[in-house]
Amino acid sequence: MNYDNIITAFNQGITTITINRPSKLNALNKATIKELHEAFKQADTDKNTKVIIVTGSGEKAFVAGADISEFAHFDSKKGKKLAKKGQELLFDFVENLGTPTIAAINGFALGGGLELAMACHFRVASNNAKMGLPEVSLGVIPGYGGTQRLPQLIGKGRAMELIMTAGMIDANQALSYGLINHVTAAEDLLPLCEKIASKIARNSSVAISAAIKAINANYKDGVNGFEVEVSEFGNCFDTQDFTEGTTAFLEKRKADFVGE
Ligand code: COA
Repeated sequence: MNYDNIITAFNQGITTITINRPSKLNALNKATIKELHEAFKQADTDKNTKVIIVTGSGEKAFVAGADISEFAHFDSKKGKKLAKKGQELLFDFVENLGTPTIAAINGFALGGGLELAMACHFRVASNNAKMGLPEVSLGVIPGYGGTQRLPQLIGKGRAMELIMTAGMIDANQALSYGLINHVTAAEDLLPLCEKIASKIARNSSVAISAAIKAINANYKDGVNGFEVEVSEFGNCFDTQDFTEGTTAFLEKRKADFVGE
């Protein structure tokens, strides 16, 4: 598939999606969000893709936010539609993917950029990364899930302060807040993400997908996460991967999972 705003690459079970609008600091315009939706969907349905990594092109930014030039003239009706559509196509979509998705934050992750990183299953950042939700400095609030996912990840008080001040935190602060899992030198960012991805890829992808569903259930309204866990746990027993994993353990060999 040919894209104008993103680049996708596949290597050894990992699909890497690079947002490629460096002259606009990879800001998310409508077209980019659409292409990201397609690329995530394609990677998620590709049996050979065990892990997805998303990053930004250039040395400066992961994503510097939603593209401000596209919504500066919107009214309330259009604003609501923008947020709803974006959440459906990209942010909720990514969070609920069955394929593990890692954000490799290689610079500014602001507004929609941090919201995209937070929708991923976890985050790794380079030591030049800067993160924040500066929307109130523009007279608006985060609309791509930021008011919900930031408190989930760093706690209500810290999220309140970061959003109210429209401030930015550096990678070490983000690490201490638990917003990201690792900090590394810029040149080591993708290699580290790939190393983590290959560890993930050795395990049963069908079990990982069930784990994502159960973990996410804790954050869904009206859903009992423990019940989802029981159900997903039970479903695993009917999979080929469960038979293979337990048999391999008992036979003292490495499991060879088929992902079914
Ligand atoms: N939307 C649209 N364009 C953006 C953008 C965004 N969110 N963020 C950066 N850009 C564009 C700039 O307009 C500029 O384009 P131009 O060269 O055609 O004028 C280009 O990207 C480079 O950005 P610039 O501001 O010149 O870089 P900088 O190094 O001086 O500053 C930032 C970097 C990230 C601090 C600054 O770009 C910024 O504050 N961006 C907006 C962040 C934001 O508020 N995001 C939330 C949006 S809801």
